[in-house]
Amino acid sequence: MTRTVLFDEVGGPEVLRVVDVPVADPGPGEVLVRVEAIGLNRAEALFRSGGYYYPATLPNSRLGSEAAGVVEAVGPGVTDHRPGDTVSVLAVSGSMSDRGVYAERIVVSANDLLHRPAEVDAVTGAAVWLSYLTAYGALVEVGRMAPGDHVLITAASSAAGVAAIQMANHVGAVPIAVTRTDAKRDRLLAAGAAHVLTTAEGDLPERVRELTDGQGARLVFDPVAGPGLAELATTVARGGMLIVYGWLDTRPAPLPLNWPLHIVGYGLNLLLEDEGQRRRGEAFINAGLRAGTLAPIVDRTFDLVDIVEAHRYLEANNQLGKIVVTVQH
Ligand SMILES: NC(=O)c1ccc[n+]([C@@H]2O[C@H](COP(=O)([O-])OP(=O)(O)OC[C@H]3O[C@@H](n4cnc5c(N)ncnc54)[C@H](OP(=O)(O)O)[C@@H]3O)[C@@H](O)[C@H]2O)c1
Repeated sequence: MTRTVLFDEVGGPEVLRVVDVPVADPGPGEVLVRVEAIGLNRAEALFRSGGYYYPATLPNSRLGSEAAGVVEAVGPGVTDHRPGDTVSVLAVSGSMSDRGVYAERIVVSANDLLHRPAEVDAVTGAAVWLSYLTAYGALVEVGRMAPGDHVLITAASSAAGVAAIQMANHVGAVPIAVTRTDAKRDRLLAAGAAHVLTTAEGDLPERVRELTDGQGARLVFDPVAGPGLAELATTVARGGMLIVYGWLDTRPAPLPLNWPLHIVGYGLNLLLEDEGQRRRGEAFINAGLRAGTLAPIVDRTFDLVDIVEAHRYLEANNQLGKIVVTVQH
């Protein structure tokens, strides 16, 4: 038996319960992982509350997409991993209800594993891949981010936003962070933002023009969408790109009309399903981790038994960077 987080109805954090469930032997192409740390993502709060883009299968729905731990057993045909290997897990294909990783032990496809060098601890290994590969895929592979580019990053304190700030600095671009209030200004500057703008101050397009010699940002990286999308699009430089990768504001988003304009709806699966992009992304991020230019900021850790508290904390929006749940064995 292994402790696992399940929920039977959609709702607030209190629907989550930690229960013992049987753990299967790994089948062909599968691996059994002893989980040491779990990275939390906004998508999981949306999935739990019924606001994600596909519904949970109830009852007994699992939850979670990324983790880190140690391989305990491998199924037939698995040659890349052996018991004792330290790994990260990034499980985003199929339904979260079936493959969720909030648990003490999980059976996952070997394709969902990444080698975790011994010097990368489990908390870091659980905090890095989803956010950094999203920022890499959107900004580098799709947006062709280059030195000198101004990159406007909304919800910049999110895990993906912090990854984007570091990635812009890593390639010599200029990250302009956007947050709703002044509360996180100093922490965003410490995280590497060249400038911090708050939506509470109003007239974002004018303030972006002031910072970009009147040109606008070559790239805008936005997980908010909603009614503000049309105004946000006016911060994009001519020939630039608005990359929307989330919908934190669930109200309808109008189609921006300041054409010509490139608008991209980005999903991480685009990268994971492309062998070349995935290999380049892993190499790029591993190089940044080694150099120290990419380093996940972990805002707070919780124990698995406190998963309800961890989700409450996530939804209170006071964090900067990642929330990680650790598992005691
Ligand atoms: N497409 C993909 O493949 C992909 C991959 C990763 C993430 N995502 C999406 O990206 C978004 C962020 O995910 P995450 O896990 O990185 O987030 P997170 O760490 O939970 O961060 C959320 C932050 O966003 C800001 N925020 C929250 N609600 C907002 C709203 N209604 N309007 C404006 N800002 C708001 C808050 O910062 P302030 O209070 O400082 O403004 C909050 O601290 C989610 O929508 C997620 O689904 C998509």
